[in-house]
Amino acid sequence: MNNGYILFYDSGVGGLTTLCEAQKLLKNERFLYFADDANCPYGNKSEEEIKKLAKSSLDNLLKCYNIKAVVLACNTLTTCASAYLREQLSIPIIGTEPAIVPATLSSKTKEVMVIATVATTRQEKYHRLVKSVSGKVYTYSFSTLASDIEKAVIDYKPLNINMYADKIRSILKKYKNIDKIVLGCTHYCFVKTTLKKLVKVDMVDGNEGVAKHLYEVLKEMKGLTNATSRGEVKIILSSGSDNKIKKYQKTLKYLNQINKM
Ligand code: DGL
Repeated sequence: MNNGYILFYDSGVGGLTTLCEAQKLLKNERFLYFADDANCPYGNKSEEEIKKLAKSSLDNLLKCYNIKAVVLACNTLTTCASAYLREQLSIPIIGTEPAIVPATLSSKTKEVMVIATVATTRQEKYHRLVKSVSGKVYTYSFSTLASDIEKAVIDYKPLNINMYADKIRSILKKYKNIDKIVLGCTHYCFVKTTLKKLVKVDMVDGNEGVAKHLYEVLKEMKGLTNATSRGEVKIILSSGSDNKIKKYQKTLKYLNQINKM
């Protein structure tokens, strides 16, 4: 038994969608949500920069809080830095990878498309994942979608989703057998329903898989809480903005409501 925090780490709001899924499964756990919003987006940064940011963020957080496990609620962080962080830190680290395996397994045509950040799709680890599945995987990276979503959610800036839907449609027109689109960035989960309506293809994300994996890891290490009441969620932002923390809290509350917790 361990009543420490489970840390969720993303560059911004994307990981809230992963946290929301984990809260359903691990109701009494205490969660820390850390967003490195001062450096968001991560998706256009180099591997070295991402590793450096992640290591220093985690060093600080591990110093200040009793954390029993870390969830990298970000495909970019996982692809670029999870191996390095596991080498450097002794705490269990659970990653979020583009859900290519479940997507190809459930695809009737065995042809899927992945949309993700530039930093994710240029990694060797990503290409190994693509090669490991049987089926065709078409990859497309967006350099501005994650930051546009961050701004839309937090600053209420309008998001021109049609521009992104048009790009996806042009690929679907070329590769007509694609029947699943993998959302390979946790930010993209915020536009899952809208994108699905616009492009008319099923969308797959990895949040449920991450939540289940986290549960298994905690169970295996006998690290589940023995608390009997609903656990708290503490939100920390690298920008230190209290006003933004309130917006993150409001966003998580909204996600919890639509997920009917
Ligand atoms: N949410 C992150 C992911 O899953 C990336 C967003 C960013 O570019 O910072 O890839």
